[in-house]
Amino acid sequence: MARLAVFASGRGSNFVALAHAVKKTPHVIEFLLCDVAGAPVLDRARELGVPAVPISYAGEKRQAVEKKIVRHLERRRVDLVALAGFMKLLTPWFLDAFKGPVINIHPSLLPRYPGIHGIEESFASGDAELGITIMRVDAGLDTGPVILQKSFPREDGETMGHVEDRIHALEHEWYPKVIVSMLDSVDSGAAP
Ligand code: GRF
Repeated sequence: MARLAVFASGRGSNFVALAHAVKKTPHVIEFLLCDVAGAPVLDRARELGVPAVPISYAGEKRQAVEKKIVRHLERRRVDLVALAGFMKLLTPWFLDAFKGPVINIHPSLLPRYPGIHGIEESFASGDAELGITIMRVDAGLDTGPVILQKSFPREDGETMGHVEDRIHALEHEWYPKVIVSMLDSVDSGAAP
C-alpha cells in the first residue's frame, strides 16, 4: 500500500477521478488538502469519505503554512502528492522538505499556455492539437519535467464548452492512470 495526498482549491473533478481510481487499488488517499474555505472539492471529499485538511494562507508567511503542510504529510506518512487544481505555488523549501514526488496536471500542451488560463488560451490559439500535460512539480510555474502529454485534434466549429469537456475528459482518464502507476512503483520499492 502507498499513501497519496491530493491538494486542490476548487471544483474537484480530478480529485473525484483520483479517488474512484485509488479505491480500486491497495493504495489510499490519506487526505485532501484544500486552501479555499467552502470550495466544492471539500463537499466531494465528504461524499467520498476522504478526510479533508483545510489550510489557510491568509495572514500567514508562506513557509509557516508549508511547514504545517509538511507536518501533515509526515504524520500521515504520505508517499506522493498530486496537485489537482491547487492554486498556490509551492516553494523550493517545500519541495526539498517533502521527500516524495509532487505531481501536477495542466490543461494545455506545455510549454504552451502555462498559468491559470491554459484552457482559454488553448481555445483562442490556432493550434491544430490541444491537450493536457502531467508533470513533476518544480519551483517554477508549470515548468517541471513532463511525465505524459495527451492530445486531440481540433475540430471545426468547436465551442469553448466542447474543448473544455474534451480536455477534462482526457484529464480524468489519464491523471488517475499516472498516479496509480506511481503509487504502484512506490509500493514495489521502485523509485517513482
Ligand atoms: C484542471 O483543469 C487542471 O488541469 C488544472 O486545474 C483544473 C482543476 O479542475 N490544474 P478540477 O478542480 O479538478 O475540476
